[in-house]
Amino acid sequence: MAVDYEDLEEKGRVFEWKAECEADTVRFAQHLAKLAMPGTLLALDGDLGAGKTRFAQAFAAGLGIPGIVNSPTFTIIKEYDGGRLPLYHMDVYRLSMEEADELGLEEYFEGEGVSLVEWASLIVPLLPPERLHLRIAHTGPESRLFVCVPLGDRYEEWCRKLGMKERAKGEIES
Ligand SMILES: Nc1ncnc2c1ncn2[C@@H]1O[C@H](COP(=O)(O)OP(=O)(O)OP(=O)(O)O)[C@@H](O)[C@H]1O
Ligand SMILES: [Mg+2]
Repeated sequence: MAVDYEDLEEKGRVFEWKAECEADTVRFAQHLAKLAMPGTLLALDGDLGAGKTRFAQAFAAGLGIPGIVNSPTFTIIKEYDGGRLPLYHMDVYRLSMEEADELGLEEYFEGEGVSLVEWASLIVPLLPPERLHLRIAHTGPESRLFVCVPLGDRYEEWCRKLGMKERAKGEIES
């Protein structure tokens, strides 16, 4: 069962980042890559074609990972070395909760690298309590709204550091 973002937004504060074009998404991912540390978990959601994989590619580049980062839809997990930190790029879209549970994802989440999970809201019970949720919404052909829910003080601090706009309680997404 997919997590209800409204539930999530009840738990944490909600910040927003507006990307007017693909280059803005790239800049956002690269800012986050600079803040990443061992054990960082970015939980990505958004419709097909929203830009989860594009974000992951820019994030990988921001970590200094050489080469091409592809969508891990069929491989489920792909590990990339050669950057400032290892990157564990996952796409759990095709997995049941049971299958995801059997993968032992906690080994990655507790590892020395950064975990970036596409469709993370499908496996919320398996995620560690501290994480940064990023939901990408289409707002135009090239524009996207990143709805960011930091769980844990560290991630909340990141949102503030990046100058993200905090959404007032009850405010409707625009
Ligand atoms: N502002 C933007 N941010 C991200 N991608 C953008 C933006 N504008 C246009 N795009 C384009 O949108 C597409 C996003 O595709 P991507 O594969 O990253 O989506 P996805 O969310 O991973 O989809 P899927 O769920 O199918 O894996 C790319 O072709 C990219 O070039
Ligand atoms: Mg993808």
